[in-house]
Amino acid sequence: MPGTWYDADIDRVIVTEEQIREKTAELAKQVSADYATVNGLLLVCVLKGAVMFIADFARALGQLGPPAELEFMAVSSYGQGTTSSGVVRIMKDLDRDIAGRHVIVVEDIVDSGLTLQWLLRYLESRSAASVEVVALLRKPDAVKVQVPVKYVGFDIPNEFVVGYGLDYAERYREVPYVGVLKTEVYSRPVG
Ligand code: IMP
Repeated sequence: MPGTWYDADIDRVIVTEEQIREKTAELAKQVSADYATVNGLLLVCVLKGAVMFIADFARALGQLGPPAELEFMAVSSYGQGTTSSGVVRIMKDLDRDIAGRHVIVVEDIVDSGLTLQWLLRYLESRSAASVEVVALLRKPDAVKVQVPVKYVGFDIPNEFVVGYGLDYAERYREVPYVGVLKTEVYSRPVG
């Protein structure tokens, strides 16, 4: 079968489509069991990286319950290049009050965990009844910061990955799997 344009740019696949599908169903099952007694959940997605994951996770959870509402936030983290500093500015806030709600932050990847640490404090300050995190991917550095990520899909090596929502220069988000780019891609002119 001929590959797509992006297959040619990928050096290695880290997590396949099938692995993502299976793990998403597994995570939804765990969350559904843990929240069996609540009336509803509020899933918070941080744009843009977690868009693919929340879409699949919400549908998997939908088959099991409890009912969920989706909220989207956009934050920008002031960092040096590709590293985040933990200083965060809200570009798009929640559209509703979350006081008394059971919140689950749906994350694509936890790397330094600094953005997430800030976000959890913020959501708690808005008086949520509970706040937990489901992250599809986790990198080794995440253990250095004390961020309680209750549900983790895959622990991956400390490499820059793209696909399934994750980008390099806003590209590769639509790739259906998670992979590492060939080094030559980084020296190519953008545009
Ligand atoms: P943290 O504050 O360092 O945990 O930053 C997490 C955010 O950085 C994620 O939500 C991603 O948007 C981005 N990120 C971290 N690692 C990668 C990667 O390997 N590829 C693409 N984006 C990444």
